Amino acid sequence: MREISLHILDIVQNSIAAGARTVDVSISEDEHTDTLTIEVADDGAGIPPDILQSVLDPFYTTRTTRKIGLGLPLFREAARAAGGDLDIESSPGRGTRVQATFKTSHIDRAPLGDMAETVALLVVCNPDVRFRYRHTRGTLGFSFDSAEFRRMLGDIPPTSPALAVVLKEVIREGLAPVQRA
Ligand SMILES: Nc1ncnc2c1ncn2[C@@H]1O[C@H](COP(=O)(O)OP(=O)(O)O)[C@@H](O)[C@H]1O
Ligand SMILES: [Mg+2]
Repeated sequence: MREISLHILDIVQNSIAAGARTVDVSISEDEHTDTLTIEVADDGAGIPPDILQSVLDPFYTTRTTRKIGLGLPLFREAARAAGGDLDIESSPGRGTRVQATFKTSHIDRAPLGDMAETVALLVVCNPDVRFRYRHTRGTLGFSFDSAEFRRMLGDIPPTSPALAVVLKEVIREGLAPVQRA
C-alpha cells in the first residue's frame, strides 16, 4: 500500500509546478471522529473552473511529457478506499486547496509514512518556496515554517545535504509526541 506521504509529495509538486511561493501542508488527527485530514494549500496559479472538473479524471493532465495525470485521482482513490474522500477548491490567480480525509482506523487506510523526511526533502530541494507544515492531534500540535528555519541558518547554504539530515531530525523530534496515525 502506498504511503500517504508519497501522495503528499506528489500533490505538493503540483503546487510547485503552479508557481506557488508558499505551500501549507496540514495534517490533523481527530480521535473523536476517527478522521485523518490532509490538506495542501498553495498560492499558485490556480485551476480554471472548466478544468477543475476534469482534474479528477485520470486521463487529464496539462503536462506535455506524459498523457496521463494521476496525482489527484490516485490520492482520491486512496481516500475513498479508506472511507474518506478528496475535495479540491481553486481560484485562478489565487491558489488551490486540496483536502483528503481518511477514516483513521480503516483497514485499508495507507500508513502516513515519513513526514519528517518528506518535509525535509521539500524544503531542501525547493529553496525558493516557503513551506509551512502543521500536524495536530486533539490539543497537541507541531508546526514548522521553512522561512523561520532559514533565518536561523545564517551562512549555511539552503540546499546543503547536511541540512536535510538536521531538518529531518528537528521535525521527527517535534512530531514524536503528536503523531499517532
Ligand atoms: N495545485 C495546483 N495548482 C494548479 N494546477 C493544478 C494543481 N494541482 C493540479 N493542477 C492541475 O491538474 C492537473 C492534474 O494534476 P495531477 O493529477 O497531479 O496530474 P499531473 O501532475 O501528472 O498532470 C495538472 O496537470 C495541473 O494542470
Ligand atoms: Mg501531479
